[in-house]
Amino acid sequence: MSVVGIIPAAGAGERLGADVPKAFAFLGGRPMVEWSLDVLREVCGRVVVAVPEERAHPPDFVAGGATRSESVRAALAAAPEADIVVVHDAARPMVTVDLVRRCLDALEGYDGVIAAVPVTDTVKEVEQGEVVRTPDRGRLWAAQTPQVFRAEALRRASEGEATDDASLVEAIGGRVRVVEGLPENFKVTTPLDVRVAEMLLC
Ligand code: CTP
Ligand code: MG
Repeated sequence: MSVVGIIPAAGAGERLGADVPKAFAFLGGRPMVEWSLDVLREVCGRVVVAVPEERAHPPDFVAGGATRSESVRAALAAAPEADIVVVHDAARPMVTVDLVRRCLDALEGYDGVIAAVPVTDTVKEVEQGEVVRTPDRGRLWAAQTPQVFRAEALRRASEGEATDDASLVEAIGGRVRVVEGLPENFKVTTPLDVRVAEMLLC
């Protein structure tokens, strides 16, 4: 079985506001993406990274697209040999080898497996400033990456646009299992997140 890692790392990082794209901003003394690359390389036979066009260096550093879904598609197209795909955002540098392995181990009988954590805040659905619904928090999990898929399922699903890949696989009727992720595997989005990540990584 060929296991290929895919790292979407082509985003601009607008909310972080650094002078380079977020995945290449320094964190704990190295470009953020390298933390995830090291972890995925421990577990995957090959890792393909979707990067901003000017940083592309095929075959393993391919030009990403205008959206995260486009970037994943570009990386997936560069890995036709993949039987199993491990998608992990460059923006989650605190991922661990153990978490990736737990996701892979849970794939039996499913089309995909995602890391996720139970939501601790009460979540509101809001329209024009007014609460329209309060979903039962006991059923809510916040999706993280890694997200592991049978490559065939992700290829069939990947035409759409979504903020994560599992929702595309769900939309074509795929079965997606959840394994408990790690609170520290949060997505580095803002300057505050960088400060917290620096504390954890150093
Ligand atoms: N990503 C990507 N291609 C895009 C947009 C996002 O590969 N066109 C990647 C990012 O590099 C990141 C992951 O998807 O690793 C999650 O996206 P996000 O945290 O939103 O990163 P950015 O899009 O870079 O940040 P922002 O939305 O603040 O601009
Ligand atoms: Mg974004």
